[in-house]
Amino acid sequence: MPEKKIKIAVDGYSSCGKSTLAKQLAKQLGYIYIDSGAMYRAVTLYALNNNIIGKDFFNIDELIKNLDKIKIHFEKDRLGNTITFLNGKNVESTIRKIRVSSFVSQVSAIAEVRKQMVVLQRQLSENYGVVMDGRDIGTVVFPEAELKFFVTADVDVRTQRRYDELKEKNPDLNFDEVKKNLIQRDKLDKSRKESPLKQADDAILIDNTNLSREEQLNIALELALKKINGS
Ligand code: DC
Repeated sequence: MPEKKIKIAVDGYSSCGKSTLAKQLAKQLGYIYIDSGAMYRAVTLYALNNNIIGKDFFNIDELIKNLDKIKIHFEKDRLGNTITFLNGKNVESTIRKIRVSSFVSQVSAIAEVRKQMVVLQRQLSENYGVVMDGRDIGTVVFPEAELKFFVTADVDVRTQRRYDELKEKNPDLNFDEVKKNLIQRDKLDKSRKESPLKQADDAILIDNTNLSREEQLNIALELALKKINGS
């Protein structure tokens, strides 16, 4: 097991395979994996459940007022998968639903929400070797991260992957709806004022359109081991 503990940031577009890469990397290195998107999804679920956001409304002040009541934590299940909890309740599958995906970019654009999540992201990472995935990890959360990846892939490839992932649990899912949601989220994530999605100057670009998961992992792992071993 490598000795030196580093921070690895994995940022990129929606459904580009960054969480798959981050999880695999963490496992190989014996590091913790943190899914920052799950935190924004959990806040969004809270807002939906409490009628703070909906089809034609978003009560931003109410959300900000309630931020202290939103407690997010992670646990591991028997298989080692990370499970997201919102106020003590397992919300892992609910936060992946399209209902949450449709509103999460609006919620994650709020400065106060981001501030709170970044505090949590840094707290959870203290004293650990960590792989964290998101949109602003290399630019805002850990600008000092020793290794940064920016992951991308063709939009149809990304849509197909997301569709395949969600289809089993959502038999009525529509490919075009998934694609529309991805394009819309990318647009909002890139154009927002607060911590927009962008490649950090020192991030390594991985376009995995034509890469298998294994090929992608091997590229990233080799670079991580070089950093860890100081070469
Ligand atoms: O990675 P994901 O698709 O689960 O993320 C859900 C949303 O959360 C994404 O559309 C943008 C937002 N997000 C963010 O703004 N900053 C992060 N570090 C991670 C996610």
